[in-house]
Order: sequence, then structure tokens, then C-alpha cells
Amino acid sequence: MDDPSTAPTPSDRRGWQGLPEWQGEVGRRWAAASATADDQFGRLSDAGYRALGDLGDLHVLDVGCGSGGTTAQLADLVGPQGSVVGIDPSAEVLVHAVRATAGRNVRLVHGDAQTHAFAEGAFDVVFSRLGVMFFEDPVAAFANLHRCTRTGGRLAFTCWPVRELVPLLILPLRALAGLVPLPPSAPPGSPNPFSLGDVAATTAILERAGWREVTVEELRWQVDLPQDATAAAHTWLTTIPVTLSVMDPDRETRAELLAALAAAVPASRRVEQVALSFTARA
Ligand SMILES: C[S@@+](CC[C@H](N)C(=O)[O-])C[C@H]1O[C@@H](n2cnc3c(N)ncnc32)[C@H](O)[C@@H]1O
Repeated sequence: MDDPSTAPTPSDRRGWQGLPEWQGEVGRRWAAASATADDQFGRLSDAGYRALGDLGDLHVLDVGCGSGGTTAQLADLVGPQGSVVGIDPSAEVLVHAVRATAGRNVRLVHGDAQTHAFAEGAFDVVFSRLGVMFFEDPVAAFANLHRCTRTGGRLAFTCWPVRELVPLLILPLRALAGLVPLPPSAPPGSPNPFSLGDVAATTAILERAGWREVTVEELRWQVDLPQDATAAAHTWLTTIPVTLSVMDPDRETRAELLAALAAAVPASRRVEQVALSFTARA
């Protein structure tokens, strides 16, 4: 499994959120948890907006726009003279994005950002909050995004570091070990939430795709979990990537998992979170 020369098979990759999974149950669950995501990951989008500065009148692409929370915020930031396009391959999340962006200058595209044929130089800015880690071929995908950005335009995205460095994931992972078969580390090079977590490798991917002046900042913040431990455990069970792979536990297993997760919720109800914020220029 860890041998990079071994091509991942579909069953190796189950639970790791390649494109087909986002188009099904994973997308449905992400959409259902969109309010939690907007709350917990607001720091990430704010870091991206900060890095980009004044977005007034600009044309922006929101990659992996999901349920549209960031797409709506971007539309407010660019104002009436600007525009925002959100792209996502998951019809399940786009249903929510239509509602979240209603009445704003937004166009939603149901497609794969790796291959979608946007017009050359169509955008001033390419933005993404946690939506660029799932490409089949990251160099091809970032090259496609570079092609549709005007010369001098900017890229800003946030992603996870390698999974061992994500406390919000490691706590529940430890709690569940032994209770359910958890997916092993995703095969190298395959789409998964941590695929861009190696800063040097991601910088090389961006440069091979044509981007320059790559910068990266590490973001650290505290996530407040619900005060009720069972409610916190429920949030973990329904939103974190690794438990998304336990798609339909029966009632008994679900109760057992919730109890194990509730026991792992820190007394402070706070968990430190870490993410990476990349920027680059076209
Ligand atoms: C973790 S969610 C983030 C959603 C949203 N950006 C947010 O912060 O709420 C990842 C999103 O990336 C999308 N995605 C996966 N593969 C993609 C691809 N090849 N092109 C565009 N979006 C993709 C998924 O469908 C999903 O909506």
C-alpha cells in the first residue's frame, strides 16, 4: 500500500474522497454539515481573503465551492462590478450552493476543476477553501487553473497538513482505533484531504503547473466543540473524513462509536486545529 510504484485500486481508496465519493454519500454528508463547516473553517477562508487584499470589481473562481458559503462571501467582496464562479463536481453540494448564493452575482458550474474548459485568462483570482486536494492529477489541475487566470492574477487556497499533524482528526482517530476498520494512510499521490500537506512537494506541484512566487503560512486556531460531549461526538461522527468512511453503522455500532468519541472529547471542549494557506501568482 505504501509503495509509490503500486497504483491504488478503487478499494484501497475507499473512504479517501476521490471525485466519485464527493458525487455521492460524502457530498451529501458534507452538504448536511455545511453550517458546522462554515463555523469551524471560517478562519481558513478569512486567511485567504486577507492574503488576497481588496477583491473589489474582480472576477473570482471558487474551486470546490461545496455548499457555497465562501462563494456567497466572495460575491459580497467583489461587489456588483465583479463576478464569482463556483465549480464543484458534486450535485449534492451544489443544491445547497444554489440556495446560499441566491440573489448574488454568482454562476455555479457542475464540473471537475482539473479539466473544465474555462476561457483562457478569464479570472483575476482563483480561490479555494479545502477544495483542491482531491484532483486525480494535481499538476494538470493547477495548470488548468493557471491557464484560466490572467497573467499576474493570484491563487489563494487552504488545505490540511499531513494527517498526523491535524489534532482535530487524530483525537477521534485514536478513539475509534480497534472499534472499526479505519482506512490506512491514503496511497501516495492519490486524492485525499491531506494530499497537499507536504509543503515542498506542493510548492513543486504549483511551480510545475506554471505558478510563481509561491508562499505558505501555517494557520493555528482553537475549534470550540459543543459543550455536550455526545453532541460533540455526533459532529465528529458525521463530519470528519475518516469517519465518513464508516458510512452506515447499525444502531448498536453507532452507539458504541458515539460513546468512544464522547469519551475522547477534551474537558475544555476545545481542540487545536492546524491548516496551510498557500498563495501564488500566475
Ligand atoms: C472539503 S469540501 C470543501 C467545500 C467548500 N470549499 C467549503 O470550504 O465548505 C471539498 C469540495 O471539493 C470538491 N471537489 C472534489 N474534487 C473536485 C474537483 N476535481 N474539482 C472541483 N471540486 C472538487 C468536493 O465536491 C467538495 O465540495
